[in-house]
Amino acid sequence: HGTSKVNGNGHLEIGGVDSVSLAKKYGTPLYVYDIALIRERARSFRDTFEKLNIKAQVAYASKAFSTVAMVQLVEEEGLSLDVVSGGELYTALSAGFPADRIHFHGNNKSYEELEMAIKNNIGCIVVDNFYELSLLEQVCLDNQVKVPILLRVTPGVEAHTHDYITTGQEDSKFGFDLQNGQADTAIEQALASTAFNVLGIHSHIGSQIFETTGFVLAAEKMFKKMKEWKDKHGFIPTVLNLGGGFGIRYTHEDDPIPLSQYVEAIIEEVKKHSKELDMDIPEIWIEPGRSIVGDAGTTLYSIGSNKEVPNIRKYLSVDGGMTDNIRPALYQAKYEAVLANRVNDGNEETVSIAGKCCESGDMLIWDLDLPKATSDDILAVFCTGAYGYSMSNNYNRIPRPPVVFVENGEDHLVVKRESFDDIVRLDMPLKAKVKK
Ligand code: LLP
Repeated sequence: HGTSKVNGNGHLEIGGVDSVSLAKKYGTPLYVYDIALIRERARSFRDTFEKLNIKAQVAYASKAFSTVAMVQLVEEEGLSLDVVSGGELYTALSAGFPADRIHFHGNNKSYEELEMAIKNNIGCIVVDNFYELSLLEQVCLDNQVKVPILLRVTPGVEAHTHDYITTGQEDSKFGFDLQNGQADTAIEQALASTAFNVLGIHSHIGSQIFETTGFVLAAEKMFKKMKEWKDKHGFIPTVLNLGGGFGIRYTHEDDPIPLSQYVEAIIEEVKKHSKELDMDIPEIWIEPGRSIVGDAGTTLYSIGSNKEVPNIRKYLSVDGGMTDNIRPALYQAKYEAVLANRVNDGNEETVSIAGKCCESGDMLIWDLDLPKATSDDILAVFCTGAYGYSMSNNYNRIPRPPVVFVENGEDHLVVKRESFDDIVRLDMPLKAKVKK
């Protein structure tokens, strides 16, 4: 699992650092990122495009995990960055990320967010709908600028991990529909406006996808549309963005393909159609989030109380839960875990790992085989790097855990633990004096 292994003390070691000493140093719960693995994933995408000699931008989808340090790491690895809100954009700018490599997504960006983006000269705005097309045009007029855009289209290919739904008109809140004329009207409006430099089109078909089929189908449909637009408007896109969604292994049940295979399949399809249309191969942009950071993250928890329901189940509670990882509660997402302080001890019992929130649904893992655990033990849950910290919350007024990067035997705190003071920081008292 990445650079993690079991060290001489029988402890889980991540990036050359003993996880048990990390838990002691920073407390639990704790998010630990093996950043060598993040670098490796980033390079694997980049290298595949380079090997195939295709102009590309790999934009890390920062919704998966965004902090100033993470954005700086993305910069170091030469990727671009996808942001979806003023907050993610602000994080990117605070980290000093080159604005021309930032792409701005979202189905309801505000005037203020769009203005912030264009005032900072960001690389591209992905326009999602007609309302936004006119709002952005207004922002451009007010600021006297021309802005590079992509149009987000809904290709009518939707991936549900293993099966694809191809429909005439997809029921989605995102994008201009490709089949019912919406996308045609949108391109006409965009091309007619002096406010826009239309780079091309974008689609995103889903997340945690294990096959190349959906990307190939989406590319095919987009090229069909590109041919119509070429004939009708003489418009030839310079960019084709196929979104993110590349799947990762959360548990032994998942069987992902190498990241390079997605890229190779996409490029093969793109080359074929570009030739048919007698056009230059467009720049290919992709937006991986989960596949860059997912398996690089491990969450460390301390085990606390337990409860036995005779003949049915044993619950072990940890000091975090749906506040730091809402995915099991929200999507029935599955994870695997070990005792970090004695990884190789034999499994003696089957337990279910409960979070500490006042909610029955706050369960992290059902039916996990573990050595008999006590409150001295540290539980390490794997693959929590994507949509864990980024979807964390303060339910039950539980402070968010800190984030630590590890690499080559060194650890760097990149997000501090929230304190109880942070929890009440924005609260305004009703009475002048509040006892602390
Ligand atoms: N591009 C667009 C336009 C997207 O909407 C997304 C994810 C991505 C790229 C990145 O997808 P990825 O490579 O990470 O699969 N919270 C959910 C996942 C939501 C994904 C939303 N969009 C989860 O925890 O599984």
